[in-house]
Amino acid sequence: MTSDVAAAPYEAPAGLDGVSVARTQISDVLGRKGFYHYRGYNAVDIARRGRVEDAWHLMLRGELPTAEQRDAFTAETAALRVLPDGVAELLPAIARLSPAGSLASLRSAISVAGQAMGCKPWTDQTDEETASQAARLTAIMPVLAAQLFRLATGQEVVQPRADLRYSENYLYMITGEVPDERARYAVERYLMLTIDHGFNNSTFTSRVIASSGADLGAVVTGALGALSGPFHGGAPARVFDMLDAIGSRDNAEPWLRHAIEHGDKLMGFGHRIYKTIDPRSQLLHEVARELHSERVEMSELVEKTAVELLAELKPGRELYANVEFYAGVVLEAAGLPREMFTPTFACSRIIGWMANVLEQIKGNRIFRPLAHYDGPEAPREFPEFWQPGQP
Ligand SMILES: CC(C)(COP(=O)(O)OP(=O)(O)OC[C@H]1O[C@@H](n2cnc3c(N)ncnc32)[C@H](O)[C@@H]1OP(=O)(O)O)[C@@H](O)C(=O)NCCC(=O)NCCS
Repeated sequence: MTSDVAAAPYEAPAGLDGVSVARTQISDVLGRKGFYHYRGYNAVDIARRGRVEDAWHLMLRGELPTAEQRDAFTAETAALRVLPDGVAELLPAIARLSPAGSLASLRSAISVAGQAMGCKPWTDQTDEETASQAARLTAIMPVLAAQLFRLATGQEVVQPRADLRYSENYLYMITGEVPDERARYAVERYLMLTIDHGFNNSTFTSRVIASSGADLGAVVTGALGALSGPFHGGAPARVFDMLDAIGSRDNAEPWLRHAIEHGDKLMGFGHRIYKTIDPRSQLLHEVARELHSERVEMSELVEKTAVELLAELKPGRELYANVEFYAGVVLEAAGLPREMFTPTFACSRIIGWMANVLEQIKGNRIFRPLAHYDGPEAPREFPEFWQPGQP
């Protein structure tokens, strides 16, 4: 510890593993029990039985909605699916810069949208204005994701419909068709399961950015950047790449063994908090089986083989399939192309980010930790070759 201002010398473990950095009433993950909840309610039960709008209401308003509240909230949020003026014209140019489904495009677009909405540092506006921007950014994220995808794939954009539920409208804007019940059911389970999950990397990022007083456009742009990484939200498409690379059932054991022995991380396995089966993966596995997707059998074989090999080659690490492993199978069966897996994650996780930001700004204190400096001793002699001119 080199700082001379810290009250007590303390060095947090790498990756803040096991460190609580805030108090929250939004969600929690019990890693040994394989359980997580949204404001105390079993999140898997909510995902089994409810709609995105129920969980969104719980996150934003603090309680599950009554039937009337659900209808009102559904209508209220559906009406927010209109892009701010000036954004639609910019999307073709943004879409041209990256491949379809790129989170770089989505983060550029949401940044522009936040700007066009006039998002100000939350310190310079009322909490009501901040809450209403949080709802609007959440409502337009799927619109941006879908329109960017259609533009990048040379298709006409499909305008959102206010008469469709969040999940139906999402699939509709991507495929151009109102989804059948089976597809809607599948994508809605995924969306609901992934709304929030304790202090995951992108949620922590959103709170760190909000803690400086920054505007919500900045918060969501930064959180999307965090989500895009392969150790976080960028994994599901890579799970499919892995399944493709394995190719046949006979190749599963040698391929996976070789990968682990060479120090590769198997995509869709392992979790910082879960030391048992990830409950999100369990429900997605069930949904995948109901969909009779062609990939299910191969995925099941790969999961079983990978878990056995990880136990053999990485003993004591307790590595199991995480949420990303069956996510792709479910989303593909619902009609989504693999490029849209991570943008779909963004469309649900933004609900959690926004709830966290609204919690953060109540009683905010800026996140400003220390780093242990272990470079050359300071102050240091300047080298002779360094001949600075006049400042
Ligand atoms: C999720 C993840 C980032 C958690 O990372 P973490 O808590 O920092 O865990 P570590 O990277 O320290 O891993 C601990 C040990 O387990 C091993 N391990 C962790 N996940 C692994 C995986 N998916 N495949 C193979 N080995 C893995 C590590 O190699 C390490 O072994 P070591 O002790 O011999 O060095 C990590 O498991 C991972 O990269 N998984 C693959 C990507 C993924 O599926 N991401 C989506 C997360 S929901």
